[in-house]
Amino acid sequence: MTTTLTPERFAGRTLIVTGAGSGIGRATTVRLIAEGGRVIAADVSEPRLQDLSRELATDRLVAVVGDITLADDVERVVSAAAGRVDGLANIAGIMDDFLPLAEVDDATWERVMDVNLTSMMRLTRAVLPLMITAGRGSIVNISSEAGLRGSAAGVAYTTSKHAVVGLTRSTAFYYTPKGVRVNAIAPGGVKTNIVATFRSPWATERLGPFLQVNVPPSAQADELAAAITWLLSDDASNVSGAIIPVDGGWAAV
Ligand SMILES: NC(=O)c1ccc[n+]([C@@H]2O[C@H](COP(=O)([O-])OP(=O)(O)OC[C@H]3O[C@@H](n4cnc5c(N)ncnc54)[C@H](O)[C@@H]3O)[C@@H](O)[C@H]2O)c1
Repeated sequence: MTTTLTPERFAGRTLIVTGAGSGIGRATTVRLIAEGGRVIAADVSEPRLQDLSRELATDRLVAVVGDITLADDVERVVSAAAGRVDGLANIAGIMDDFLPLAEVDDATWERVMDVNLTSMMRLTRAVLPLMITAGRGSIVNISSEAGLRGSAAGVAYTTSKHAVVGLTRSTAFYYTPKGVRVNAIAPGGVKTNIVATFRSPWATERLGPFLQVNVPPSAQADELAAAITWLLSDDASNVSGAIIPVDGGWAAV
């Protein structure tokens, strides 16, 4: 499936993208740059950001290597925007080895919550004052099919992605009147570099069959970028508080 660009849709706009080094975040960054935006591209992986910078070769891309779970790194990302943020795409995320509750270790639980949820709250908290002062802004959070159902991942990932739905709705409720739109997309399977290994025989036995029969084919990252950039753009000017499955129809099953 090919997607069609809207040239200059983001001209003069500054947007922050986390997880910009790979998969959905990378595709979103590439599209935003192609559509005229200036992007603060944040990722923990320096080689991935170097590769992206080489490929795009534009001064409208500002790469910030950092771990978004660390307060100092969040501050560096926001500082790079130099006081103007028109859009924030909270895309960075990790999986949880499909561990069910009886088997999840504290380290997995805490890391998944930190990356997928708490860092999203912190970065959004840092950006909101700029958007409120400007009276405009668009925030797109990445939930998951696992944010809509119990049969798509392990307990930590599923809980974090359900929480992203709550974070999105609450933030939309409070700040839409201030001109800030806040939405989430819930992807189904997407071909990326995310690590999705099974570490639990019980998860393999219980969840494995569901993923084999009820799941539409995996999407390309570009197809997710098309939905994310639509929500970031003025084309979605009347959309806020929405949780949009972008999953090939999985949510309808
Ligand atoms: N791929 C799928 O099937 C799928 C399905 C549903 C939801 N999602 C969600 O989409 C988002 C993007 O995932 P993807 O599939 O593109 O994965 P990916 O692994 O290809 O890309 C994620 C990027 O985030 C970066 N990252 C991870 N932790 C970070 C941290 N602490 N600080 C900064 N950067 C960090 C990684 O280095 C990586 O470059 C995630 O939130 C994921 O949960 C993915």
